[in-house]
Amino acid sequence: MAPLFTRRATTRFRVSLALLVMGAAAVAALVFVWSRSDAAWRVGAPAPQPIPFQHSLHAGALGVECRFCHATVERAADAGMPSTGTCLTCHSQIWTGASVLEPLRTAAALGLPVVWSSTHRLPSHVYFHHGAHVAKGIGCATCHGPVETMAETAKAETLSMGWCLGCHRDAHPAGMARADTASAAVPGRLPAPTQPLSPLADCNTCHR
Ligand code: HEC
Ligand code: HEC
Ligand code: HEC
Ligand code: HEC
Ligand code: HEC
Repeated sequence: MAPLFTRRATTRFRVSLALLVMGAAAVAALVFVWSRSDAAWRVGAPAPQPIPFQHSLHAGALGVECRFCHATVERAADAGMPSTGTCLTCHSQIWTGASVLEPLRTAAALGLPVVWSSTHRLPSHVYFHHGAHVAKGIGCATCHGPVETMAETAKAETLSMGWCLGCHRDAHPAGMARADTASAAVPGRLPAPTQPLSPLADCNTCHR
């Protein structure tokens, strides 16, 4: 009896099966590489804003302190965003008629804040606290990069879990001020020997 499939058909079938498996592996590899790339985390990608606010002008050229606009960054979980009143400290006198500032005047007249798009928002299942970090002497630039040079605000780091853990797993996190380490050596300020060190890499530090 003649074979059901010719030898050629069998070879073709085997080759296409191998190609299919290799193709699937290549797609999986690409997805893996992409998911770990900066682009997937939108690093360096600005968001559309209602007003073309520039950190490079305000925090850079004019030298306005970060805390002047992000007033709760030293004590609260949230850094805080400037109220319309904060902008109007200067813009009730300069650039008063500028059309780019129309959304600011409208918000101020309605007593509402300007609605900015966030480029840094973490998922809601993650807990973050600015004050805890700033109090340890970790500067804004460690996590946000050189914001004072940015014309459009964008993330400088992924802010992924792996990125947070990279610092939390380290006993002496990079970016922490040396003065702080020195003050921890003051006998009166050492934790009692029985007290465990802050479990910074525990899941419930960031997921509560
Ligand atoms: C004059 C007020 C002002 C000053 C000074 C200022 N900022 Fe901002 N900041 C803003 C405004 C307005 C936004 C929202 C628009 C934007 O993202 O560009 C913002 C956004 C941000 C964001 C992104 C927020 C988000 O939700 O993604 C970061 C991070 C930030 N600022 C850090 C800094 C740092 C660091 C400094 C000091 C080097 C600084 N800012 C100084 C007004 C200010
Ligand atoms: C400390 C004073 C000060 C504060 C506070 C301030 N600005 Fe300004 N802003 C300036 C000055 C000065 C200029 C004009 C610079 C120039 O003419 O080159 C300016 C220019 C601008 C421009 C025009 C930039 C351009 O060239 O297109 C925008 C938009 C703007 N500011 C938005 C804001 C917003 C939004 C806030 C509040 C988050 C704010 N500013 C807070 C001083 C300030
Ligand atoms: C240890 C890293 C770290 C440091 C240090 C840090 N930030 Fe942030 N910042 C973040 C993260 C993470 C977010 C996103 C928080 C969220 O979505 O809950 C954020 C968000 C922000 C926002 C958006 C508003 C908010 O609170 O969600 C602003 C504005 C901001 N940071 C300003 C600053 C300034 C100014 C400093 C320095 C005084 C600073 N940050 C220091 C990590 C940091
Ligand atoms: C550059 C180092 C560094 C990075 C990056 C960093 N942390 Fe931390 N974090 C610290 C240090 C140091 C402390 C301890 C502060 C203390 O002991 O009071 C801390 C404390 C915390 C706490 C405890 C706050 C409290 O009072 O309970 C939380 C929550 C936290 N970090 C979340 C995060 C998250 C989420 C990220 C990433 C988005 C992150 N951290 C990135 C260094 C870092
Ligand atoms: C220092 C802070 C920190 C610690 C500690 C931490 N996480 Fe996370 N986790 C994050 C951040 C930030 C995200 C959001 C960004 C991301 O998905 O990487 C996240 C996301 C996640 C997600 C969702 C992932 C996704 O794809 O959406 C899971 C699940 C998770 N964490 C589990 C854990 C477990 C389990 C532990 C303990 C072994 C842990 N985390 C410890 C900061 C932390």
